[in-house]
Amino acid sequence: MSADQLLLITGATGNTGAPTVENLLQAGHRVRAFVHRADQRSEELADLGAEIVEGDLLDFHAVSAAMSGVSAAYFCYPIAPGGLLTATTIFAQAASEAGVAAVVNMSQISARREAKSHAAQQHWLAERLLDRSAFRTTHLRPTFFAEWLKWQWGSNANEGVLQLPFGDGRHAPISGRDQANVIAAILQNPAPHDRQIYPLVGAQELDHYAIADQMADTLGIPVRYEPVEIPAFAAALTAQGRTDFFVQHISSVAQDYRDGIFAGENDLVEVISGHKPMTVADFVNANRAVFQHSGPYAVGDQLAHA
Ligand SMILES: NC(=O)c1ccc[n+]([C@@H]2O[C@H](COP(=O)([O-])OP(=O)(O)OC[C@H]3O[C@@H](n4cnc5c(N)ncnc54)[C@H](OP(=O)(O)O)[C@@H]3O)[C@@H](O)[C@H]2O)c1
Repeated sequence: MSADQLLLITGATGNTGAPTVENLLQAGHRVRAFVHRADQRSEELADLGAEIVEGDLLDFHAVSAAMSGVSAAYFCYPIAPGGLLTATTIFAQAASEAGVAAVVNMSQISARREAKSHAAQQHWLAERLLDRSAFRTTHLRPTFFAEWLKWQWGSNANEGVLQLPFGDGRHAPISGRDQANVIAAILQNPAPHDRQIYPLVGAQELDHYAIADQMADTLGIPVRYEPVEIPAFAAALTAQGRTDFFVQHISSVAQDYRDGIFAGENDLVEVISGHKPMTVADFVNANRAVFQHSGPYAVGDQLAHA
């Protein structure tokens, strides 16, 4: 793909979208960043050289306008009630009309026909829908992101705690940046990846006791994994104001996680992107400021009242 072609990145201010924009700009491409709203995050992308388009992925006319002149696009929609299949339909139609050659689709490792999570089943349906289009498709099915370690981090001066409903299940946490390297590589050369489904994982499969140990070694403070029962975790999320759709998803995939659906190691990140994925230690080092911040345990207060 020549550098003068235009690449569209949706979810552009998110965990995977933002580093993808950065990666492609560094490679010399023109990048259109589709953002939900203009704010500090979109300003940072504009400062890097991205063209910013503000809109809603549920607005057909906005998405259609954003496709104009685009060669390849990244589709990323969050876990939100009632949206993914509509957004996918809109995206597929708009991309087809605009003659977009390839779409990289963010799905997840739990996407299955029989998934109990409504969101995970919708990801599976969205993949099948996109595969009916003439453009090239690649579906990314990451395991849980390494960013969970930030979201669930709680600490005081003496120790860190990860409160999660994952029992002694295992996975290889993958960072948004490692996924961005994969997304950018496919967008720049989509042909070999057409109709492929990639389960994306990080450097090493671990349980959360071992993850906590690696975090402790890196940070130089004790870090404890505190397993939480799934209903208690769900109640804590509800108390935090999360939607029923989100809570149903997390509860279902927590069980999937315990059942091994999120486990596994492979070398896809390195083979596709040319970069080895981050280890837990790399991720903690890259986000040291977050982990040095003292704050309440992620769901501790809510668990007390669950
Ligand atoms: N987290 C995990 O462990 C995990 C694992 C596997 C797969 N996944 C998949 O990863 C995807 C999320 O990716 P991510 O973490 O990179 O994204 P993210 O950080 O959750 O960000 C979502 C992005 O989409 C934007 N957005 C939200 N609603 C929108 C709308 N209606 N129209 C336009 N833009 C909208 C958000 O903007 P605002 O912030 O301004 O709303 C944000 O930029 C989901 O599909 C999820 O299933 C996640």
